[in-house]
Amino acid sequence: MTLIVQITDLHLRPRGLACYRVSDTNMLAARAFRAIAALPQKPDAVVITGDLTDGADEREYALLRQLCRQLPCPVYVMPGNHDLTAAMRSELADFPGVGDAPAGDKLHYAVTIGGLRLVVLDSSVAGKPYGRLGGEQIAWLDQTLAADHTPTLVALHHPPKVTGIAHMDVIGLADTEALAAILSRHHHVERLICGHVHRTIIARFAGTVMTLCPSTAHACVLDFSPDAPAEFVMEPPAFFVHRLDPEAGLSSHLHYVEAYPGPYPFFADKGVSWPGTK
Ligand SMILES: [Fe+2]
Ligand SMILES: [Fe+2]
Repeated sequence: MTLIVQITDLHLRPRGLACYRVSDTNMLAARAFRAIAALPQKPDAVVITGDLTDGADEREYALLRQLCRQLPCPVYVMPGNHDLTAAMRSELADFPGVGDAPAGDKLHYAVTIGGLRLVVLDSSVAGKPYGRLGGEQIAWLDQTLAADHTPTLVALHHPPKVTGIAHMDVIGLADTEALAAILSRHHHVERLICGHVHRTIIARFAGTVMTLCPSTAHACVLDFSPDAPAEFVMEPPAFFVHRLDPEAGLSSHLHYVEAYPGPYPFFADKGVSWPGTK
């Protein structure tokens, strides 16, 4: 079994500052990291699909380093639109994959984790909210997928698919068609895992399954009106646990950060029946 936890859109801030005046992203991220550390099975890796920080400030990356030290496994990161690739290269140089990634304005790398391959892409464009992979990175993705047919998760911040949440779709991935052309040729891509929209969304994309992970902090309001305002709501934070079973394949489980009442037994002690049952 291989377990990869995916969290996203931490939007860490300098100490004491809430995000958008309301969302205490640092506290919420700390809770998410504690929930990961408390999982009954130790994950093989954690992947964070961008918007690690809110402002690409060095204090925010320092906080990320501190949080990641609590985890019992390697942590793989990629930039979101709130990050800066150059800042991540210098502040997170000792994170696996980051230090070894080829130089350039895009931070991409591939690693093998148990029975899975993780291909990390950089969809950020410095100073812009939308995403773009660019021709060079798309060509690298094609070569990387062709070179290894292990079941693969391709990870990037910006989802390529229209979600119906208009204010997020306008800041989606610009070169969606180029990405689709590559993925549709490589059938061992089990998932395209993204963040950015701060909601749980699952869709078919280019012959694979795209999963969008909710944020560890605030969520975008679910409203499909074309003129829906850009607003957020404090829904229960959650993350994905992607589980590869050697025989059954990959399944993706949403897990809530907060503790809820329970667990309660489904079955009574031997010799005792619940009311209405035999
Ligand atoms: Fe975000
Ligand atoms: Fe984002």
